[in-house]
Amino acid sequence: MINGRSYEFTGPAYASALDFIRGRGLTGAKEGCAEGECGACAVLVARPAAIADQPTDGRRNQLPTRWTAVNSCLIPAAALDGQEVITAEGLGTPEALHPVQHELALRGGSQCGYCTPGFVCSMAAEYYRPDRAPDDTVPNNADLDPAEHGPNGFDLHALSGNLCRCTGYRPIRDAAYALDRPAETDPLARRRHASPPTMINTDLRDSGRIVRPRSLDAALQLLADEPDAVAVAGCTDWGVDVNLKGVRAPLVIMIDQLPELRRLTWYEDRLELGASLTLSEIEGGLHGRIPLLDKLIPQFASRLIRNTATFGGNLGTGSPIGDAAPVLLALDAELVLAGIDGERTVPLAGYFTGYRTSVRRPGELIKIIRIPLPLLPLTAFHKIAKRRFDDISSVAVGYALAITEDLISEIRIGVGGVAATPIRAEGAESALIGRRWTEQTINEAAGVLASTGTPLDDHRASAPYRSAMLGRSLQRLYFDHRGPDRSGGSR
Ligand code: FES
Ligand code: FES
Repeated sequence: MINGRSYEFTGPAYASALDFIRGRGLTGAKEGCAEGECGACAVLVARPAAIADQPTDGRRNQLPTRWTAVNSCLIPAAALDGQEVITAEGLGTPEALHPVQHELALRGGSQCGYCTPGFVCSMAAEYYRPDRAPDDTVPNNADLDPAEHGPNGFDLHALSGNLCRCTGYRPIRDAAYALDRPAETDPLARRRHASPPTMINTDLRDSGRIVRPRSLDAALQLLADEPDAVAVAGCTDWGVDVNLKGVRAPLVIMIDQLPELRRLTWYEDRLELGASLTLSEIEGGLHGRIPLLDKLIPQFASRLIRNTATFGGNLGTGSPIGDAAPVLLALDAELVLAGIDGERTVPLAGYFTGYRTSVRRPGELIKIIRIPLPLLPLTAFHKIAKRRFDDISSVAVGYALAITEDLISEIRIGVGGVAATPIRAEGAESALIGRRWTEQTINEAAGVLASTGTPLDDHRASAPYRSAMLGRSLQRLYFDHRGPDRSGGSR
């Protein structure tokens, strides 16, 4: 359903939601990059509001929603079957502008207009965020950076996935910070119930099939029966392959709504994250209990991507520069792999075997990411990239350590971007364990960390730069946490 009207999907199977929407004459959403970088294609989808609301028993249609902005260029149209979508055309008209559109127009937030419908949708998602509140009603809002949060509680990071090439961002920020609360009479502000995830089984013979199985067992049976099938969750990687590389699969298995892959469960000795939870859902469900993930997630791509991307997908693709792996290695995470013959647990440190390869067997799915508790007390995530946000890492480092009476009693360092796979920096860990937490120790170990892996020269960074950044990263960790309380908040 788009803007309150139902449409029939007839294929092709790999058609993106963006192509489908534009094909219906709704040409506000644009294609800028077709790979999730620009946000010109952003639309709103009604999704359950919080992780606590996530379905484990099929009651999704009884749960309140929030408008969630997503990149429609990456999502297959079929994956939105039964869902409710709003585009810029559905928010307002030239005669009756939506408040977001009104403020953007009033404050000069649009010139050529190519990016504007995408900005409108991302901004509207934040406008309707149920817990958005002005400064004076949220005591800790005083701690928020005014460059990133407006007096109306608007989180500017909601726009981090939208690029504008001609207006400049200040007028767009002015518009965002001028927004009031939605009116009582605004029909889109009313909390509604999400549509149940449709169990699609779309056989479009000339272009392949897309199936959304009802259970994990059904998905595993399909994978066993059809080895050429591709399992996708958030589509942020697969969608790029479809759009830019022309990749097609005879069968796409959507695992984004499998109940077994969508649970966030706390146990006394571990946290279990379902592999198909989106990063935004995990961020909202942690409540600060895993500080290292709180440091990682805001730097992981953009809000638009985090609204669909999953840890399962990030680890499943096995990218050597994925940001999740260094952090999860530092957290000593394990993966529960599910196959037709049962489940097995593997440590993440032993999961990757080479460039985009792993111990995961054909037909297996990552079911759960398991993080042991209690956590080590001092953690940090350093992402070295050309931009502060929404960029690919040149090098990424995750740290978790304990310092007992000035001795480094435990330490794990996860590193990405310096080898064919994300790795534990075991040499540097050995150079630090049992040593005193002093500048001299750190400087010696920084040399060891800098020699970790075999970094590549490419357009993002040279090999010597990558190595130098590794060493600097450890020195920065020390300088951020050298005080007696060691509570510095480095990222
Ligand atoms: Fe650029 Fe979709 S077209 S993010
Ligand atoms: Fe032209 Fe943003 S108004 S790209």
